[in-house]
Amino acid sequence: MTDRRGIGIIGGVREMQEFSNGLRKEGKTIAFVPTMGALHEGHLSLMREGKRHGDVLVASVFVNPAQFGRNEDFNSYARDTDGDLRKMESAGVDIAFFPRADEIYPPGYETYVEVTELGKPLCGRFRPGHFRGVATVVLKLFNIVKPDTALFGQKDYQQLQIIRKMVSDLNLEVDIIGMPIVREESGLAMSSRNSYLSPEEREKAACLSLALRRIKKSFDEGERDSLALLREGYDVLAGASIGEVDYLEIRDGETLGDKAAASPGDVAALAVRIGNARLIDNTVL
Ligand code: PAF
Repeated sequence: MTDRRGIGIIGGVREMQEFSNGLRKEGKTIAFVPTMGALHEGHLSLMREGKRHGDVLVASVFVNPAQFGRNEDFNSYARDTDGDLRKMESAGVDIAFFPRADEIYPPGYETYVEVTELGKPLCGRFRPGHFRGVATVVLKLFNIVKPDTALFGQKDYQQLQIIRKMVSDLNLEVDIIGMPIVREESGLAMSSRNSYLSPEEREKAACLSLALRRIKKSFDEGERDSLALLREGYDVLAGASIGEVDYLEIRDGETLGDKAAASPGDVAALAVRIGNARLIDNTVL
């Protein structure tokens, strides 16, 4: 482990496992925030909350090739190790874990985890293999970091449900905490991919949260017909003349099953392409 001011940095898988084994032997609890770096306030809110859930806070940065499709942004995904370290330090992270891709997926690697049904709708339809990559890397990171608690943002709503299900189905002893979406002043959900937006596109992107707010307002006023609710959201998106809408749907908040009539706890979720960015957002009704 190397030390940089207040933060320890670990790069090796075996070293991380031994460090975590040592902590556990001492009876210390571990809170964990996995990330792909390019950290923003959303990630930092997970880290600050993580501080309250473990004696030691570990955060990882790993841009996971297994969750990117062939034509997706793996190569252009923002990478800023120094900036990330500074932000982690300021958020109180004790250990920054930066595994190497060839250690996570050594030559001949062939084991993957799939949460079959939850991975099918919404983003699963547009990003085949994505959630298989997410579930696999998260399980691997859990086996390496050995956390008691792990924190994930609700912006990636489907990812959060998939991780909860994997933890339950595979009897993993990790408490999963979902944290509220952190938004810019315009309402745009914070995302590392917002950096792909031009200033005009960023302005337009505010319509994503506006569409969801419109749906939630109608729901709160008593509308239950999903199609009627979605029409309101589509009207907002159409008014902003943005790019392609991959989906705007209302789904059961837990099973992500179809809902013709919306009820409390359901989720309205969308994915939209604006310029080079594919942005997702959601609101729980
Ligand atoms: O949400 C993310 O940043 C990633 O999907 C995660 C959970 C770190 C797995 O690579």
